[in-house]
Amino acid sequence: MAKRALTGIKPTGSPHIGNLLGMYQPAMELQKTHEGFFFVASYHALTTMRDPEQMRAQTIEVAANWLALGLDPNRSVLWAQHDVPEVTELAWILSCITSKGMMDKAHAFKDAAAKGKEVNIGLYTYPVLMAADILAFDSHVVPVGKDQKQHVEMTRDMAQRFNHLFGETLVVPEPLIRKEMEVVPGLDGQKMSKSYGNTIEIFLSEKKLRKKFMSIVTDSKGVDDPKDPDTCNVFQLYKLFATPDQQADLAARYRAGGLGYGHAKQELFEVVNNSLSEPRSRYDALMANPQEVREILDDGASRARAVARQTLDRVRQATGL
Ligand code: ADP
Ligand code: TRP
Repeated sequence: MAKRALTGIKPTGSPHIGNLLGMYQPAMELQKTHEGFFFVASYHALTTMRDPEQMRAQTIEVAANWLALGLDPNRSVLWAQHDVPEVTELAWILSCITSKGMMDKAHAFKDAAAKGKEVNIGLYTYPVLMAADILAFDSHVVPVGKDQKQHVEMTRDMAQRFNHLFGETLVVPEPLIRKEMEVVPGLDGQKMSKSYGNTIEIFLSEKKLRKKFMSIVTDSKGVDDPKDPDTCNVFQLYKLFATPDQQADLAARYRAGGLGYGHAKQELFEVVNNSLSEPRSRYDALMANPQEVREILDDGASRARAVARQTLDRVRQATGL
């Protein structure tokens, strides 16, 4: 039987190019060789979201992102996390074998605490729910960006501990982190992240997308000055989209002088825009027909639930519940 690949993303805002390269693209590659299980992490989003209208709208929006970026609902399964409540049962069971010491190390709540934000119990035990997401579906591989590595490692610990205590029951998953895409830089060169306000959203209109690229931070060298591609934010992003030949060509023009940053930004915009124009039209079509997206989510939920129910039956049997 094909191995299973699983990943999710919270509906907390419009997805960006960091999400695209770090998570969506590797997930869509895995869909070709694995059974793809992909979801909208609405329960996780509830650790911070408070507006029900926004929750509903963004759940559909993130599902449409998945479909526009290539998720094939005939091949893979797409659902909203809260439509498979079995994961919350597994999260409880896992929380009973997970030490508080492990949770104390989790980045998700530590980052929020460091910024003085509210730390609720859901945020504190975020990695337990994430482990349940992964383990409920017997996932073998989990494509994520580097910031999620700790959570997948904790998931492995929980699965191994469960198996040690109750006998072989859960599949121990592997993270898949693309080396060159592990931390995609944002407009200012820091990690691209919604929480840093330095994102380039995937589904902006062409005009807005170009404007975003033009706002990438560079040094103040003039057009004629030779420039260093290796320290330039524009070139760092260009590398992630362009072919090796295109990269070598642009790098040579940086070093030679005579190339202004505005020009480099325009070339970057063009390669990215070319790769996004097809998904953008699919996305616009899906957003014009949210009922179709809802139906795909409902169908996915019933397929996902059937798998989770079987895992939960094994877990209940193993624990004597
Ligand atoms: P954000 O940091 O913007 O809130 P999320 O936490 O929603 O992004 O991330 C969703 C997925 O995208 C995760 O697998 C995460 O690791 C990946 N990801 C997010 N930002 C980046 C980035 N800058 N580079 C690579 N992967 C990323
Ligand atoms: N925690 C992930 C994020 O913030 C989203 C997520 C929830 C997830 N459950 C998951 C990712 C299970 C992979 C597998 O991006």
